[in-house]
Amino acid sequence: MLRRSALGLAGRRFSTALAQEPAARLLEGRCALAQPWSERPKGTIDQMTGREVQTLSKHLGCELPSVDLTQSFNFEELEIIKQASDDAGGIVVFSHQKDTMTIHDHTRFARQLVASEDTVLEPHAVAAGHPLDSDVLEIVREANQHVVFGENWHSDHSFMGLTASYSILRIDDCPRFGVNDTLFSSTEDAFDGLSQTMQNLILDLNAYHSANKAYGVGHPGNSLAAMEGTDTMSMLAETPILESDVLQPCVTVHPRTGRRSIYVSPTFTTHVDGMKPEESKAILLFLCQWIARPEFCTRVSWRPNQVVMWDNRSLSHKGLADELTERRAVHRVTVRGVSPQNHRGESFSLTHKTKAAQGGLFEGVMDMPDAATAAARHMSA
Ligand SMILES: [Fe+2]
Repeated sequence: MLRRSALGLAGRRFSTALAQEPAARLLEGRCALAQPWSERPKGTIDQMTGREVQTLSKHLGCELPSVDLTQSFNFEELEIIKQASDDAGGIVVFSHQKDTMTIHDHTRFARQLVASEDTVLEPHAVAAGHPLDSDVLEIVREANQHVVFGENWHSDHSFMGLTASYSILRIDDCPRFGVNDTLFSSTEDAFDGLSQTMQNLILDLNAYHSANKAYGVGHPGNSLAAMEGTDTMSMLAETPILESDVLQPCVTVHPRTGRRSIYVSPTFTTHVDGMKPEESKAILLFLCQWIARPEFCTRVSWRPNQVVMWDNRSLSHKGLADELTERRAVHRVTVRGVSPQNHRGESFSLTHKTKAAQGGLFEGVMDMPDAATAAARHMSA
């Protein structure tokens, strides 16, 4: 299946004057990510890698300044928003939300979205939800905290049998413009950028994804440490997800667009199935470094009253840590997706599980050198 164009969809679905109205209203002012680069601090250094942040993708992401998420949406209107996401590689920035928007408005929009997909919201499997709504994960990075939740590249919930389709993030405590941004990599563009030979090499590979690697004990500098460094984040009392890891295709196919995507991450992936550790490490190290190349990446800076919706099926992302003195708090709501499929229509995460990777078992096998450096930094901090 080929990626659908906005014009093609509009031509099929919105052929009458009446039906064109919601599209025109919702898409009014749509533009590429038009965030003012000149206002960002120059020479941002990712404290995790020690490297300057570079993002060069010109077409990734869009802003929809005319969508008011406190309003009600029907199926067609939600489809317009999802199509806008598809057309922008999976990132939609709702840049002008009401100052009065609440956590309940946030989840109300998300529940309309999940109803349109015949699915449900997925509360986090390890971290406790927000006191006002357990479907909301509040992600806090306290000022002067050295470990950040979601600091390295990942796709949300890739460690689950049913992974995340959309994540919807609302800023609550906003840092200065241009610091502690969220970085995105189009893992679809990254796949397309590979040689045909490399694409063929990885198409039928599968790898295990582990929540335990990110949230369990014995993995220094992971998101468990990040949670422990906050005043408000905590673990759930029961975390069975930490007991077993799931098998996912290394290349997944987007169920809406048909595009192929590299689906491994340094945060959750432990090893390629059926390979010797050295072979697995070489492949995963290459792929994790490949998706982080600047030409596949963009950067979303946070502004007050901003909501960002992204598609975990086409993107990898990370919470940038560049200004340790600034607190940042965001509210995340996550839409339950499906068991990811490879190019043959096969999926494994509901049927192929293994005992969770324990601390130290796979450390050093696949971790990127940057991550190892960060772990050492966290341990000494
Ligand atoms: Fe995330």
